[in-house]
Order: sequence, then C-alpha cells, then structure tokens
Amino acid sequence: MVPSVPTAPQERSGPALPCPGGAPPAIPVGRLPGHVAVVLDGNGRWAAGRGLPRTEGHRAGAGAVLDTVDGALQLGLRHLSLFAFSTENWRRDEKEVGEVLRLIGAFVADHGERLDRQGVRVSWSGGRGRMGARLLGHLDAIAARTADNTRLELTIWLNYGARDELWRAARELARESVAGRVDPAEIDARTFARYLYRPDLPDVDLFIRTSGEQRLSNFLLWQSAYAELLFTETLWPDFGHRDLWAAAVAYSERDRRFGGC
Ligand code: IPE
Ligand code: MG
Repeated sequence: MVPSVPTAPQERSGPALPCPGGAPPAIPVGRLPGHVAVVLDGNGRWAAGRGLPRTEGHRAGAGAVLDTVDGALQLGLRHLSLFAFSTENWRRDEKEVGEVLRLIGAFVADHGERLDRQGVRVSWSGGRGRMGARLLGHLDAIAARTADNTRLELTIWLNYGARDELWRAARELARESVAGRVDPAEIDARTFARYLYRPDLPDVDLFIRTSGEQRLSNFLLWQSAYAELLFTETLWPDFGHRDLWAAAVAYSERDRRFGGC
C-alpha cells in the first residue's frame, strides 16, 4: 500500500482548483501519474451550447490540446495519450468525419514547431487503413521531427479501438504459434503485451474522460486495467492545464492497491 503524503501546499476549499497562483501543484514525483490517458469528449455539446456548428467545437478542442500539453509539461508528466478519433467515430456524418481528420492534420502541421521546441515527442497510434495520405504525411512528419525529444511523450490515438488492438494481437500471436515461433505454453501477460500497438508505453495510471460521460469507450482497455478513473463535467474545449493539474492532485491523493490490501 502506498502511504499517504501531503500534496499541494496551497490552501484548498471544496473542489476549487489547487493552483490560484498559476503555478503547477507541488506533487511529489512518486505520486505523479506516469501515463495519463484522456478521452476527449464534449466538443459537439460545447458548440451546440453556443449555437455553433459541431465543427466549431472540434476546432476549439484543438486549442484545449495545446493548453493541456503545456500543463503536462509544467507538471512534469512523461506520457500523455489523447483519444482523438475512434474506430467507432467513422459512423458519424461523412462531413464531420472529414473535418475532424482535417483539423487533426492541421493541428500537427501548424504546431509541430512549437511542440518540438517544447521537447514533446509526438507520435500517433491506431489503424493506418482508411486514413488519408495527406493526414498520414502530417503525422509521420511530426513523429520524425520530434523523435529525439524526451520531456513528454504525446501519443495521439487515431482510428483506434482497444478491441481491434486486442484481436489483432491475438491473431498475430496465433500466427506466430502456428509458425512455431512462439510456444503457446509460454504466453503470459508480458508476452501478450508485446503484440499491442505500442508495447513501448507504460500502463495508464490516470484515465480521464471529459463532458460528464462515465464510459471507457474502447480506449486502452488492456493498458488501463489498474488505472484510476476520473470523470469531469468539463467539456473538452473548456479543459486545460488547470483541469489537468486538478486531476493530477486528485490522483496523487488516491490509494492504489493493485489488488493488494
Ligand atoms: C469529442 O467530442 C470529439 C471526437 C470524438 C472527435 P464529441 O464530438 O463526441 O462531442 P459530443 O459528445 O457530441 O458533445
Ligand atoms: Mg461524444
């Protein structure tokens, strides 16, 4: 069991944000989440609340990504995963899908220099099928440009679904077994995890979903087996560094047991 340690030094009352001075909260390094995963949700409702088309919500959501990355850097996070487009999102109106993917491409093209300067290593993960060549070009370019950065690893999950990832891993392992390269008796959780899309990433410590929905929606199911879950009413375009800091403070106060006592 992890002992409870003092967290943010500031006085706090109720759910108020812990950082009135604009500085990140002082969380001991050992209590920081190593890998934070976020399901970005609420762009459409944000736009509807303003009488705007849904695409304006997605545009505003891109700004929230930059602010959240700034907050992650100030906090000293090492891994940030953002669920930007799921395998299920293809079911949406064709024009909306096109606009979301166009905005993601524009985001990485427009902010590659800034993210590189900040020391962010940007990569993406998910299925390459169905993704346009132009978008793949932007994504591959930012990954190549920022490959040597080490401050923060930002992974954008696109055309991603955890069940897809899991059956693909199972299929690959089955092929390897049939080919005699893997002994089925040797397959365990560690072996299996090597066949996931990103075996280099650590498990998720803190799983955040915005917009008041309390669902995992097929995001990083294997990796989040012991993640702390945090659901906030804030719509994604309104989310930013302060919300991330507040989430990290809440995480640092949790008692993680991993099935122990
Ligand atoms: C999340 O916001 C953006 C994407 C998944 C692309 P939504 O578009 O799901 O917003 P709501 O849920 O309709 O408010
Ligand atoms: Mg939604």
